[in-house]
Amino acid sequence: MKILVTMGRGGTGKTSFVALMTKYFVEIGESPLLLVDADPDQNLGEMVGVELHEKGKKSISELLVETFLEEGGTTVGVPPTERIESRIWAHGMYEGECFDFIALGTKWVEGCYCLPNAALKGALESLTKNYKYVLIDSPAGLEHLNRRITSKLDDIFDVIDPSKKSFNHVERAHRVAKEVKIEFKNFYVVGGFRFPESLENQARSLLPFRFLGRIAYDSNVEGYVLAGKSLLGLPSDTPAYLSVKKIMENAGYGKV
Ligand SMILES: Nc1ncnc2c1ncn2[C@@H]1O[C@H](COP(=O)(O)OP(=O)(O)O)[C@@H](O)[C@H]1O
Ligand SMILES: [Mg+2]
Repeated sequence: MKILVTMGRGGTGKTSFVALMTKYFVEIGESPLLLVDADPDQNLGEMVGVELHEKGKKSISELLVETFLEEGGTTVGVPPTERIESRIWAHGMYEGECFDFIALGTKWVEGCYCLPNAALKGALESLTKNYKYVLIDSPAGLEHLNRRITSKLDDIFDVIDPSKKSFNHVERAHRVAKEVKIEFKNFYVVGGFRFPESLENQARSLLPFRFLGRIAYDSNVEGYVLAGKSLLGLPSDTPAYLSVKKIMENAGYGKV
């Protein structure tokens, strides 16, 4: 099992990158695949054509609140980790043909909910073992990952835009990942769709991490997002998808 996570500033194209990565893994036949929407904005579902509530599913936050805050300690004898894990399988997991999907949701406000956080982490550790790849769409920081999902990752993809802030973000992101005690094997930098070719050499030479390439600007992506259509349905020769394919190949996935 491998866990891949995106990070980067808002609007750099993280979520669409995860959606296109999903399309790539589906097309090269890598499965089973679990997508985790860990961003409170929650737009990964829309980009891969899943509306949890329409499918009768709940976010993990909603399940945590039901299980630990509203019900209290009713189910005597069942450890909290197992309780929430079976709830997730039954009510939180969208099981699709090509991938499964869960969303952490927003109802869960951060705080010292030590029991639920620990239970969730245990449940997700056990649950993710069933997959070959787990793709996490995450908000900018990684602190929440360590607390709620996992402390061991395989790849971090930091998606950057052409700003001084984004360049600084890379170093900070790497430092934060270390500070919050996330273990990871690879830290990659990916140029977002606004990142110009002219800055590529600068990114390669200035940043102390491997630059995998740029995601191409693609009006099809814009159009699909605007129409609320799944990016999995994009033509396989659309520029953004072709660039993501190359990026994934550079990271060692699929044919090299
Ligand atoms: N490759 C692309 N080409 C053109 N526009 C894109 C591309 N990827 C994303 N976008 C546009 O940028 C917006 C933000 O993308 P998104 O993936 O949601 O970024 P983030 O998750 O980093 O906030 C999308 O709504 C979409 O319209
Ligand atoms: Mg996003």
